[in-house]
Amino acid sequence: MLAAGAAPTPARGGAGGGDRWAGAAAEAVGSARGIAAPSTPGQVRPRVALEDPGTAAYRGLFAAVGIDGVPLAVGTEGIDPAELAAHGARGAVLTPSHQFPSGIAYSARRRSGLLDWARAADGLLVEDDYDGDFRYDRAPVGALQGLDPGRVVYTGSVSKSLAPGLRLGWMVVPQSLVDEVVERKRTMDLGHPVLDQALFADLIERGDYDRQLRRCQRAYRERRDALVTALAEHFPGTRVTGIAAGLHVIAHLPERYGPRESFLARAERAGVALAPLDAYACGTAPEWHARPGVRLVLGYAHLSPSRIVAAVRQLRHPDR
Ligand SMILES: Cc1ncc(COP(=O)(O)O)c(C=O)c1O
Repeated sequence: MLAAGAAPTPARGGAGGGDRWAGAAAEAVGSARGIAAPSTPGQVRPRVALEDPGTAAYRGLFAAVGIDGVPLAVGTEGIDPAELAAHGARGAVLTPSHQFPSGIAYSARRRSGLLDWARAADGLLVEDDYDGDFRYDRAPVGALQGLDPGRVVYTGSVSKSLAPGLRLGWMVVPQSLVDEVVERKRTMDLGHPVLDQALFADLIERGDYDRQLRRCQRAYRERRDALVTALAEHFPGTRVTGIAAGLHVIAHLPERYGPRESFLARAERAGVALAPLDAYACGTAPEWHARPGVRLVLGYAHLSPSRIVAAVRQLRHPDR
């Protein structure tokens, strides 16, 4: 689905809707914006900034269409626009509402600084709003795209609210790019299944999608609470960081539960699938690796509270 100018969900305040920001979209938007690969051999390859820690697969997706992905440290506030300028980036892929995986929300300063950069450098920001409907402590922050629809591409999907296997999503692109992006998408895959899109449209019109979002919000919050409580009980001293949002937390376990390798091996023996935070590091922040303790990215949304509690207990006592 492609749109320019219509809101995806009123709560987010964005101006309209993609698939995961996939290789196809990368090429579509990249080339439409003049970011795409150089046509002359020897010409410098265009660059797009990516978050570090972040989704490592993006680098490969961009490389496949002749664009270099440059990882930039997220820090505590989000990517620094000065770094974008220093690296000569033409665009950036961001998760400003709830950075994946670190869990921070971009500060107001960074949000406006990034928009300023995009205006000054004729750059494009891609706002990957993968879990923005789920915030548990306050109303969700408005989408960056709503602040400058001419400079931001907004992407979202039903993967967190219905099922990832549906492969249904939306991409809101600046008006000036719509025709070219639609054409690019058409030549890449000849389009998405119409029936799925029609059914989804019906779900929205009848108000059922809003009800589903509210159901998910309640269930995920309960699961998050169960996880945080179980960690406090079974791994005292654990710090959970990141905003209260989305489908995952970052858990910093005290050093005494490490070292990291033996903790992960124990988890595997206990049958608990876990991802360490540094699995998402892309190289700009070596201090991440140097820190003591075990830092985990824990997803909870797909498990019932009782299974979450059982898994944490199992992690603590794998041999019982
Ligand atoms: C950072 C990030 N962006 C986007 C997505 C959504 O991907 P998709 O909509 O293709 O399922 C995910 C899914 O886990 C994600 O972690």
